[in-house]
Amino acid sequence: MHKLNTMAQKDLTQAKAAKKDEFYTQYQDIQNEVNAYLEYDPDVFRGKTILLPCDDPEWSNFTKFFAQNFQNFGLKKLISTSFAAESKQIKTWQPTLFETENPNFDADKSRTNGKIFVLDRDTNANGVIDIDDLQWQYLEGDGDFRSDEVKRLRDESDIIVTNPPFSLFREFMAWIVEAQKKFLIIGSINSVTYKEIFPLFKDNKIWAGTRFNKRVNGDNMTFMVPDSYPMTGTELYEKDGKKYISVAGTAWFTNIDHGRRHQPLQLMSMEDNIKFSKHKEVKGNGYPKYDNYDAIEVPFTDAIPSDYDGMMAVPISFLDKYCPEQFEILGVTQRNDDPYKLKKYSVEQYKNANDLNARGVIMVDGKPKSMYARILIRKKNNN
Ligand SMILES: C[S@@+](CC[C@H](N)C(=O)[O-])C[C@H]1O[C@@H](n2cnc3c(N)ncnc32)[C@H](O)[C@@H]1O
Repeated sequence: MHKLNTMAQKDLTQAKAAKKDEFYTQYQDIQNEVNAYLEYDPDVFRGKTILLPCDDPEWSNFTKFFAQNFQNFGLKKLISTSFAAESKQIKTWQPTLFETENPNFDADKSRTNGKIFVLDRDTNANGVIDIDDLQWQYLEGDGDFRSDEVKRLRDESDIIVTNPPFSLFREFMAWIVEAQKKFLIIGSINSVTYKEIFPLFKDNKIWAGTRFNKRVNGDNMTFMVPDSYPMTGTELYEKDGKKYISVAGTAWFTNIDHGRRHQPLQLMSMEDNIKFSKHKEVKGNGYPKYDNYDAIEVPFTDAIPSDYDGMMAVPISFLDKYCPEQFEILGVTQRNDDPYKLKKYSVEQYKNANDLNARGVIMVDGKPKSMYARILIRKKNNN
């Protein structure tokens, strides 16, 4: 019985994650993010091959955006691959006129095979290379990014850009890192603490893009969803006959440089924070020490004391402001161990316990209080 419940639970969790696999990114969000990299280095895409590995051009604004800017960015080649209709978790796919009216159309392959779209020259000889010059054909397989066929395209490319399937984020990131490619992708800020992802942040192999879990004009990042989207809730809304979903905690992850990353945070000394901080937790109170880490608790990024040389535990949102010249990342406290366990302990039991795992603990009025996941950082010596 218990086993069945666990399996049902697992199915439910997977189904929930899979629903998020069909969220489509808006053009404006792509444009805003990409502009930040161009501002830092106008030649960032010049002479490069870009792969969009989860992007059907009939839907994807990534393909539209890079195709429209092909000449402007000086791209060498744009490759966009899509996942077969029958392999998708949500099977609402209908071939578009673009596909059915094309001489390449094959009714069977349309369901079972992925597609590849390539843009690398002025095929219609109208003097510009743009979206009308995209050439397409069916892939041999279903377009799974893990297939050898798509791996070969990855290896041929310089930069990988997309919003990958939510349920495969860890695998997708490993797939990029294994090939040592430049990338710009969308994910959930929660993935920062995954054991596969955090070490990459720590070693400065990946970092926050310019929009990292930030609300813009009061809004989370919003995505278009298929008409028949099997979900209800306040986060879903309609605009101009299309369905959208607002997703909290959405973030861009990258290893391409942008200017904000090198702007150090302007911070007050510990003494000034204690005197003047706008946060009541800090003003007049200071910074509690962790019981199970040699670190002080800093509950807000803007309350990091500029003159503290030891280890500090800061919220995960710190990564949005992280400047590698100013701080180094030392570790992360775990978030998945049971915070409620602590509530069951008496103070005496807590003191004698040897199984507290890695959740940070602070003593408040002599009682242990477990904290949210925190990033452990230290000031760099050069400032
Ligand atoms: C979150 S959506 C984003 C689509 C597009 N990149 C965009 O942002 O508009 C992820 C896409 O990846 C596709 N997908 C799911 N699993 C995949 C896999 N194993 N390999 C390639 N694509 C996959 C989904 O069908 C979906 O179209």
